[in-house]
Amino acid sequence: MTPTKIGIIGGSGIYEIDGLEDAKWIEVNSPWGKPSDALLAGRLNGIEIVFLPRHGRGHYLSPTDVPYRANIDALKRIGVTDVISISACGSFREELAPGDFVIVDQFIDRTFARDKSFFGTGCVAHVSMAHPTCDRLSAVCEVAARDAGITVHRGGTYLAMEGPQFSSLAESRMYREHWGSDVIGMTNMPEAKLAREAELCYASVAMITDYDSWHPEHGAVDVTQIIATLTGNADKGRDKVRRLPALLGAERDLCPCGCDRALEFAIMTAPEK
Ligand code: ADE
Repeated sequence: MTPTKIGIIGGSGIYEIDGLEDAKWIEVNSPWGKPSDALLAGRLNGIEIVFLPRHGRGHYLSPTDVPYRANIDALKRIGVTDVISISACGSFREELAPGDFVIVDQFIDRTFARDKSFFGTGCVAHVSMAHPTCDRLSAVCEVAARDAGITVHRGGTYLAMEGPQFSSLAESRMYREHWGSDVIGMTNMPEAKLAREAELCYASVAMITDYDSWHPEHGAVDVTQIIATLTGNADKGRDKVRRLPALLGAERDLCPCGCDRALEFAIMTAPEK
């Protein structure tokens, strides 16, 4: 058994978490560059929590410019075992309404201007992304959200787009009708791939803020609408975070999904003689 250390990556509208005991902002250096910001470390119910604002406090990093490798590496270096990614998303389904949460379990990666791997020339590895999220951690996120009074949907496919512009109507219809996507966002890729390469359990909580552009009664997406939905949900979101430590427990065993052993059969490069 090893101590649980929860890492929370907060997206748009989430730049801090309150109620942490002994909270302090810590600068963590990484060979992959500087993370989005310092990491806020503290304890909740005796369990260690580390928070990282994905876009930086003040929201100065665009989805393309988020230093995904440095962020995941910094969380790994500080000893995080379980990463919970929280992000604002658009919805492709009538029943996934603004204000609801979706516990994502699949991704379609349409991003193209980001560094996506810790591996490359010199050490080649191919991890499996067939099941990109941790089922055990996702279950905990679902219960925490439900107990906090949030309408939560378990499972859904997240279309990761490059941005920063929102989708055209034609793209929105294609992702929804032909590609079977349920939600759309700009940041979970390559984050989820890198968490897998770093052998970290990863769960993704999509906070629905809008219906993207496909919905005939809702028109185009705009940032004012996104912020209004996030602000309306902030108290429940905070309540959800407070519930996580008790549900996860102070100690963890090997991950039943194998997230913490993802590299076991992934490295192609021969060891040096
Ligand atoms: N983030 C929140 N809403 C979004 C949308 N409709 N498309 C992409 N990213 C989003």
